[in-house]
Amino acid sequence: MSRKILVTSALPYANGSIHLGHLVEYIQTDIWVRFQKMQGHTVHYVCADDTHGTPIMLRAEKEGITPKELIANVHKEHNADFKEFLVEFDNFWSTDSDENEELSKSIYLKLKANGKIATKTIEQFYDPVKNMFLPDRFIKGECPKCHAKDQYGDSCEVCGSTYSPTELINAYSAVSGAAPVRKETEHYFFKLSECEDFLKEWTRSEAIKGKPTLQGEAANKMGEWFENGLNDWDISRDAPYFGFEIPDAPGKYFYVWLDAPIGYMASFKKLCADKGLDFDEYWSKDSKTELYHFIGKDILYFHALFWPATLEYSGYRKPTQIFAHGFLTVNGEKMSKSRGTFITARSYLEHVKNPEYLRYYYAAKLNGTMEDIDLNLEDFVARVNSDLVGKYINIASRTAGFINKHFDGKLVEGKDYSLLQRLFDDNFTSFRPLSIWKCYEERDFSRAIRYVMDLADQANKVIAELKPWDIAKDSSRLDELHRVCSLAINFFYLLSIYLKPVLPRVVDDVAKLLNLPKLSWPELDAAAVSTLLLPEGHKINSYEHLITRIDNKQIEAMVEANKESLQAIQTPAPQAKQEAASEASYISIDDFTKVNLVIAKIVNAEHVEGAEKLLKLTLDIGEAAPRQVFAGIKSAYDPAILIGRLTVMVANLAPRKMKFGMSEGMVLAASDESGRPFILSPDSGAQPGMKVK
Ligand code: 2FM
Ligand code: ZN
Repeated sequence: MSRKILVTSALPYANGSIHLGHLVEYIQTDIWVRFQKMQGHTVHYVCADDTHGTPIMLRAEKEGITPKELIANVHKEHNADFKEFLVEFDNFWSTDSDENEELSKSIYLKLKANGKIATKTIEQFYDPVKNMFLPDRFIKGECPKCHAKDQYGDSCEVCGSTYSPTELINAYSAVSGAAPVRKETEHYFFKLSECEDFLKEWTRSEAIKGKPTLQGEAANKMGEWFENGLNDWDISRDAPYFGFEIPDAPGKYFYVWLDAPIGYMASFKKLCADKGLDFDEYWSKDSKTELYHFIGKDILYFHALFWPATLEYSGYRKPTQIFAHGFLTVNGEKMSKSRGTFITARSYLEHVKNPEYLRYYYAAKLNGTMEDIDLNLEDFVARVNSDLVGKYINIASRTAGFINKHFDGKLVEGKDYSLLQRLFDDNFTSFRPLSIWKCYEERDFSRAIRYVMDLADQANKVIAELKPWDIAKDSSRLDELHRVCSLAINFFYLLSIYLKPVLPRVVDDVAKLLNLPKLSWPELDAAAVSTLLLPEGHKINSYEHLITRIDNKQIEAMVEANKESLQAIQTPAPQAKQEAASEASYISIDDFTKVNLVIAKIVNAEHVEGAEKLLKLTLDIGEAAPRQVFAGIKSAYDPAILIGRLTVMVANLAPRKMKFGMSEGMVLAASDESGRPFILSPDSGAQPGMKVK
């Protein structure tokens, strides 16, 4: 029976690059979608960039561009990354789209009409310099428990305790460095507390018999949340905010998590417009279609509580199932910038190149549960080389050549064909098409891969026993050679069908080799598999190289390239900072000498119109023309006192285009807890242009 299925992966934030952690989810979803499409079902796979919120607004400001420019740039980058990893969305859209604005506003108005929206005046932290309310993540200070400095407003990355920003010691705004003040503001709330009965039932339900809406572990987690009672959900944020303004509420915007999942619908709506599909058939309350969301376990709360409640009380259908997966570790540990294991998709493509290695490795690890999965880089190399090249491809590379050379590319026919059928059937009992099918359906890809590799082992064993390379030496045994190699090609054909969801590109090349249209996966029971034998006398094409082995050096180069640069360590990202403290990461002297530090004389310093934090410095470093550098030191220095001073700058930092002009380097400064900068000065006698080392 043909099914109609809509599938989504979580929407990546539009303020960062896709990395190997993200890819666990996109690859997992893509494999499942490709499997379903091979079964002949109607499947639509949609996604979008998650574009709204304070971090994106502030990052754009920092880069001197508008948020819309930022998200357009990131969209291009994300699109290219997904394409190259063979993640094939039917539509990859944006939450900052007309479709999403229209849907978000109309859903909000329906919730309101259903009495599910309330307003409340609350007190929030406010940055008096930047004139904006601060999300908890943008308030920093000393941890009230372990006294680690520079911790976030909601949790301490050193001791792991959670608290409210009011408990931080010496709190400061991560945006301006100013001490935040408390200020009243009216917020809009979704009355989640009134949805408890509905959610308790829904989280334990089965949309399709035998298929629970949530995985067991996820449903249990929900149970814990219900025990504490559900709070109403704050869905508004005050201007300035990059997002959609709430209808009839000037200066109030939808919190990013309100419009993000609606982005699933918006992306599908755009697909409907492009392809002439019926949006309501998939989203109306009585829809007969299936809807699946693949997500990471960290965003279960949003998908298993807020999202179904939003849909229920605005008159839409609910998801059929939510599939949560675990996090990625690399070599058994959290991905780390200092260890070089925080690897971007782009960097993988540059160094390792072949995306199907990673698709295969993830498939071999994913089992449909919420357990974390580990990318062990040594195991990755070993497995790709031994399984993909040594077991699977080996079957064709050892035998296709004989078919090309001795038999004009044709498989056996006539009497030899019936012998082939017998050989194939004899080795068949262990070919488990139904089990493999079931593993894919249930997202237990690791088990599917185990079965497939088991079959590949058996196929190789049969070939090794029959020894076509020996038979080929004896011209009187050509019939036998023909049968054996035809048998091997048929094994290879069957394995290729099973591997196609994971290795779409290789298997398309296999289809070319086998001179077949794209391989499909007909509904197979044990008896039907024998009908999969290629036709008598079928002509294949000449064998061309299908996959190369990975060299360990490629992995080493990738890890090296991802080790955080000295510059980034100077202004540590929170994660890198914690690691620096706990694991004492070292750099080599070669790394250090890459940074060209020189003495600079500040020949001019001035305010920049419209810039709140920057001063424009003109620096003499002994070159023919002075350098222009924008430095974020306005809060602490009057330009007049800087002129004539010597300081230290990084002279070989790539020039950066900022809103106010080019910045051609970086001036070094220390900073205190509040973010106040202190620029460096050399001892007297130093001259502009002298190297600091
Ligand atoms: O956690 C995240 O990365 C979010 N950008 C996921 C959003 S998924 C959906 F709800 F929009
Ligand atoms: Zn702490």
